[in-house]
Amino acid sequence: MLMKDKIVIITGGASPLGIGFATAGRMAAEGARVAILDLNVQEAQKAAAQIGAVHRGYACDVRNEAVCQEVISQILDDMGTIDVLVNNAGVSQSHRIMDSTRDDYDLVMDSSVRGTYNMTRAVVPHMRSRRYGSIVCIGSVAAQRGGGILGGPHYTAAKGAVQAMAKALARELGLDGIRVNAIAPGLCDTALLFGKLDEAGKRRVAESTVLGRVAVPADIANACLYLGSDMSSYVTGIILDVNGGLHIH
Ligand SMILES: NC(=O)c1ccc[n+]([C@@H]2O[C@H](COP(=O)([O-])OP(=O)(O)OC[C@H]3O[C@@H](n4cnc5c(N)ncnc54)[C@H](O)[C@@H]3O)[C@@H](O)[C@H]2O)c1
Repeated sequence: MLMKDKIVIITGGASPLGIGFATAGRMAAEGARVAILDLNVQEAQKAAAQIGAVHRGYACDVRNEAVCQEVISQILDDMGTIDVLVNNAGVSQSHRIMDSTRDDYDLVMDSSVRGTYNMTRAVVPHMRSRRYGSIVCIGSVAAQRGGGILGGPHYTAAKGAVQAMAKALARELGLDGIRVNAIAPGLCDTALLFGKLDEAGKRRVAESTVLGRVAVPADIANACLYLGSDMSSYVTGIILDVNGGLHIH
């Protein structure tokens, strides 16, 4: 059991078809107790209950710093410690530069970049005090290839910022015993694709991967498990490509 007695927080974990929910299930299967954070408390609690009775769901809009601080303090009261944070919450938009608005920009940037910043700031004092922690941030292959599949320029920039922030955090927090890494998933079959990519579009992307398929959430969840667990105890500051060879560099 790779995650026995570990407490794991996953933001954006309530979407039943999503990467966060799959990661929660994978971590739980390895013995973790999981806190699922998402915009809607009922959905977060329902997702947690689906995984098992010891897991919990919380309302948390990661764009709001005060809310992030409150939720972390509540989780510490409820669950005792925090070992792993997965910064997964994100909103994707494919609008081109002249089709997106200032509100689109704020939503996409704030969900991924400010959210990662807020949540990391909320957990670091506790992780520092225990000299232990792993933070996993979800970036995207979009940041590496300049979008071109799902993400418009603002989404691509948001994911690039998350990946750069993960490296800077790794540098800053290493001597505190906190590892920080990012994952750059390729196209993954989740609700994020609804209304943006039809079956023919998915097939086209699948054909441009080396492995001949798009990712399923379990592919990304396994990478989160590796980076969250002590299996990766000497790994920090990396961007782990999980893209089926969609982008090899
Ligand atoms: N699906 C892909 O192809 C793909 C590829 C690369 C990266 N990603 C990234 O993976 C992550 C998970 O995406 P997914 O594909 O599972 O999508 P999803 O839409 O299924 O899940 C995203 C979750 O984040 C939640 N969320 C959105 N804004 C939030 C906020 N402000 N606070 C808290 N929760 C919030 C949503 O409610 C949802 O449950 C995202 O960061 C996404 O950008 C996805």
